[in-house]
Amino acid sequence: MVTVSAPGKIHLIGEHAVVYGEPAIIASVGLRCRLLVQNSGSIIFRDGKSTEEFGIGDVLSFADNADLLWKSGFEKNDFSGLFELMKSEKSNFKKMAAGKVLKALKIKSGAEIRIESDIPAGVGGMGSSAVFAVSLTKAIAGLNSKKLSLDEINRVAYEIEKIQHGNPSGGDNAACCYGGLVWFKRSSPSNIIEPLNIGYELENFVIVNSGSRERTTGELVQHVRKLGESYRNPRIKALGVATSEMRDALRKHDFGTVKELINLAQRNLAELGVSTGNIDKIAKSVRDIGGAAKLCGAGGGGFMLCYCEDKKKLTGTIKKLGFEPIETALGVEGVRTDR
Ligand code: PMV
Repeated sequence: MVTVSAPGKIHLIGEHAVVYGEPAIIASVGLRCRLLVQNSGSIIFRDGKSTEEFGIGDVLSFADNADLLWKSGFEKNDFSGLFELMKSEKSNFKKMAAGKVLKALKIKSGAEIRIESDIPAGVGGMGSSAVFAVSLTKAIAGLNSKKLSLDEINRVAYEIEKIQHGNPSGGDNAACCYGGLVWFKRSSPSNIIEPLNIGYELENFVIVNSGSRERTTGELVQHVRKLGESYRNPRIKALGVATSEMRDALRKHDFGTVKELINLAQRNLAELGVSTGNIDKIAKSVRDIGGAAKLCGAGGGGFMLCYCEDKKKLTGTIKKLGFEPIETALGVEGVRTDR
């Protein structure tokens, strides 16, 4: 039996803009996905509520089929066909992920995978697909006595993320894999992933579930891509500049500026059409008490990041609106084997 866990992630700033080559700052969070794996003749997923079993050949051919759809989506710059397939059955993501890992690691044997996740399912914004991709890669490698470096795990997880989201930046899997605070920039031939060592613990942040998403990450990214360039580009650029300024402000422990930048990011993301009524309402109430709040990840619902020096006031404000603040550490350890 091998037990592996990886943390979820939250964008402090830079989501969506990161898809267009701007930087992002992404923090791992204290909520983890834990996988307990053991040998099996097939691929079995158990999550406490349900059990799903697939033949090894089935997951491999499903992953091959998804790869083909990805290639044609990439050529057309439209992944709708792939998204249709991935959404047609709830288990398709796990099936594809297992197939991709077996293929990448050239493994022909099966695994029984028990999933214990602290990350609420189906909310969005905490990288639930990335954390699963990262932990599954390490777990299956471990079960087959293959030692993978973090870079190798990250590379396989990125390939899984591409099938799930079409054309993701790779930032989510990097944060879940390496942990800590990550400065991330999409780049060729490989993405820039640097630890952002600020030398102190981030405090007075809380995470809020603003409600389940109706659109997937891939669909929300595609929505932004379809906005006219003259409308989209200035907002993407503004988010990029704000991300660089956030790095300086974090290094200087200047939370007055950090707050302004979080609120600026929320404004720009709302203008890109990925905010919701709930997110706008929570963000306004947090601003009204002198704090800052923004949506996280693709938006369209999902988790938000809120900050206020007076944390009690912050949690009280959120609760009064009928939402539950989640207090958790930011910048925790990345993927690891648990004993
Ligand atoms: O919503 P999430 O947690 O899947 O995050 C998506 C982040 C985006 O910047 C919108 C997309 C990406 O590929 O980086």
